[in-house]
Amino acid sequence: LLVDKGNHKHFMAKEIYEQPETISHTLSHYVDMGAEKVALREELPFDFAQLSRLTISACGTAYLAGSVAKYWFERYARLPVDVDVASEFRYREPPLERNGLSLFISQSGETADTLAALRYCAGQGQHIASLVNVPESTIARESQVAFPTLCGPEIGVASTKALTAQLTALASLVVAAARARGTISADEERELVRALVELPRAVSAALGAERQIERIAKRLSKAKDVLYLGRGQMFPIAMEGALKLKEISYIHAEGYAAGELKHGPIALVDEAMPVIVVAPSDELMEKTLSNMQEVAARGGKIILITDEEGAAKVGAGAAEIITLPKVPSFVAPILATVPVQLLAYHTAVFMGTDVDQPRNLAKSVTVE
Ligand code: G6P
Repeated sequence: LLVDKGNHKHFMAKEIYEQPETISHTLSHYVDMGAEKVALREELPFDFAQLSRLTISACGTAYLAGSVAKYWFERYARLPVDVDVASEFRYREPPLERNGLSLFISQSGETADTLAALRYCAGQGQHIASLVNVPESTIARESQVAFPTLCGPEIGVASTKALTAQLTALASLVVAAARARGTISADEERELVRALVELPRAVSAALGAERQIERIAKRLSKAKDVLYLGRGQMFPIAMEGALKLKEISYIHAEGYAAGELKHGPIALVDEAMPVIVVAPSDELMEKTLSNMQEVAARGGKIILITDEEGAAKVGAGAAEIITLPKVPSFVAPILATVPVQLLAYHTAVFMGTDVDQPRNLAKSVTVE
């Protein structure tokens, strides 16, 4: 493959920094920028308006992309969604409704469990769509329609730019579905599309927090366990933060729904366990802040990822605040992905691990 690291120390850093471009590029496939409308180029073998249910299966980070999309499809398109890790879905023999759409998300398009889930759904008469980064892949070829993520080859084993491209494409599909189902107005469509179009600039700004994140990462690299909390569409981003950290720094981390804190993980909170809270300002922020206070009251050190509006609300509750630009809540999970990637990356650099080729992991898991 003719890809090099450019000025970066690792492919992962290069791929994190490419995201303003890869998001733009992906968006230009899905959106008519002039008309501020989503304009799908693929012919759809189904009608969004007629779908009874959407079933998403994927593995690893792609599963977390699907988990964010569940919040979006349900909220904006009023389409019921099931999302599962493919290795569970395929053996569960789930009954599938008539006129259901099954969507498979995979960077490589070759993940064995995801492919097996696809074949199961095809056998059940579902409409089959995939979202892949490799158009010649098996998953793309076995789909009735394959939507592309146009982020270029991803070399780092831990997925970064593929995730934000998947989220960008999924957000576009959500707008298309919502329009077809009549659940958003033309004005709302324009607002959602504008939020997407303006996202690359916010991602560039978010990359500007790197120095601060590097400083925080130095402290994280001394931790044995890290807890990530998020609520609603930020819950999968908390999971992604934890996944990235454990994959490349080998520090144990868990992503938890903020509301579940008191049902378990709060027992672990002490001065030694950093708690990373992902909570941009939205209608759920107050709830997450009160969870944050429960952590602070037990001596937990909080690193809050929020936006300018959120930072103003928090005051002295957090040891560190990583401040993102304020964006519409629709695209906030895509933006919040960037600081959790940088935190994991710099922590791993401090630990001296093999960032691009972490031990025991493979880029593409083509065996069960
Ligand atoms: C492996 C990779 C992950 C990836 C997952 C799914 O575990 O290390 O980065 O998210 O597979 O891969 P896929 O190619 O299906 O997206």
